[in-house]
Amino acid sequence: MNIDRCIKTRRSIRKFLDKRISDEKIADILDSARYAPSAGNIQNWKFIIVRNKKTIEKLANLCADQVWVETATVLIVVCNDQSEVKRMYKKRAELFSTQNCAAAIQNILLKANSLGIASCWVGVYNGDRVKAELKVPVELKIDAIIPLGYAAREQEPVKRIDLENLVFFEEWGQKEKD
Ligand SMILES: Cc1cc2nc3c(=O)[nH]c(=O)nc-3n(C[C@H](O)[C@H](O)[C@H](O)COP(=O)(O)O)c2cc1C
Repeated sequence: MNIDRCIKTRRSIRKFLDKRISDEKIADILDSARYAPSAGNIQNWKFIIVRNKKTIEKLANLCADQVWVETATVLIVVCNDQSEVKRMYKKRAELFSTQNCAAAIQNILLKANSLGIASCWVGVYNGDRVKAELKVPVELKIDAIIPLGYAAREQEPVKRIDLENLVFFEEWGQKEKD
């Protein structure tokens, strides 16, 4: 799939079929995450693959009222290990460590889409309880939970803000090229 198509056909999907995703595809998806840029090339991400149905249900219950998460066949839990980023970037560590993980997350979403696998970036959950459930060391942060699966239905694209309302030329507020 070419990159433009991959970016523009990705959707947040919130209902999945009961159909297994192969280990090879999951490995491929995670391999793409490794290639994301990161400040100082620190690569402060770790990924927990959750396939166990009971664990998926428990984690779904920690995502506020997002019961649909239960329908995922795999969850990728993205863990942010800030230790090295803090050592190297001090005040900027919070921002950089989060941005690094966000870049990895986007690679995951796009690679999944290229393989015909649907996903959603979930940011609403009880991080402390997710860590306890998965035995993640307390000093790490959970930066996302990504439910994956084969889409149970088509999803129309959500509205995007027009480029003309997002872009300035040369300085803030200047809408004309000259
Ligand atoms: C940081 C972040 C947190 C998000 N958290 C949630 C979430 O908890 N639950 C959810 O259903 N979608 C969540 N989303 C997905 C957005 O709702 C979705 O990307 C947005 O509506 C645009 O739709 P699209 O992804 O289909 O283009 C999150 C997205 C981001 C980037």
